[in-house]
Amino acid sequence: MEGMYDKIKRLKKEKNAVVLAHYYAPAGVQRAADYIGDSYFLAKKARGTSADIIVFCGVAFMGESAKILNPEKTVLMPAPAADCPMAHMADEEKIREVRSMYPDAAVACYINSTARLKTLSDVCVTSANAVKIVRRLPNKNVFFIPDKNLGAYVKEQVPEKNIILNDGFCPIHDSLALKTLERCIKEHPGAEVIAHPECRREILDNADFIGSTSGIIAYAEKSDAAEFIVCTEEGVGFELGEKCPDKKFYFAGDELICADMKMNTPEALADCLENGSGEVVVDDDIRMAAIKPLNRMLELAD
Ligand code: 13P
Ligand code: SF4
Repeated sequence: MEGMYDKIKRLKKEKNAVVLAHYYAPAGVQRAADYIGDSYFLAKKARGTSADIIVFCGVAFMGESAKILNPEKTVLMPAPAADCPMAHMADEEKIREVRSMYPDAAVACYINSTARLKTLSDVCVTSANAVKIVRRLPNKNVFFIPDKNLGAYVKEQVPEKNIILNDGFCPIHDSLALKTLERCIKEHPGAEVIAHPECRREILDNADFIGSTSGIIAYAEKSDAAEFIVCTEEGVGFELGEKCPDKKFYFAGDELICADMKMNTPEALADCLENGSGEVVVDDDIRMAAIKPLNRMLELAD
């Protein structure tokens, strides 16, 4: 009988499909994917592919961005209900308010946002390129949406700009408490702390390295340390284990799990390939407006 992974492999070939998976997807899905990566890497991969079908194992904003960048391709999501709560945490009225208060302001929109919010923005960023892009903007005033934690980190790194913060947050990263990290540091005093910038300031203050999921993996690979305390979603543990089999990784807390990302099971991936289910549809008006800040991100990040 054909096993699950053989089935996925066969269907990918039959349908000329490429499977992209975020580092937060379950390990079984990452194992079956053609490419795994952070949001920035996957957005670039989605744009450059020659496959007819892109299967995106992530959350809604990722599938949506792939479709916006690739309108002629079919984009499928094994877990179409998987959404990022933070993607909705910016208010259109507040954007209008800030724009009228600072007429020269640029709205920098973290890619973890709805397509609708992207249409109201000047440039998109990911955690891998936010500092670089905001620094390169000609505008002095920048309204950073939706994430207050990544926004505050960028503000600190780019002091020459007036960065106006919003109040959105990732429920997973923002819930990591300092006392939890301190307990972990006490248990593993020799370990380096590596953190995603969606964590709160007090967590980042204790980090030896701050970066996107890809940045975290690259840092762990090149560091001389043998042990690390990881402050991001536990899915990165799969690639950390693959890339650094001799190093030890401890996650700072048991609750660093994004339930939406975990909806991407290998079974759902096989079904989606077999039935063409979970197709991402983006309204033409939205797509044409949202592609502008996404393309600007790709230009400014290089
Ligand atoms: P990356 O930009 O590192 O892929 O992170 C995306 C994300 O959803 C973090 O919570
Ligand atoms: Fe959204 Fe947080 Fe999940 Fe990332 S980890 S997809 S920011 S809820």
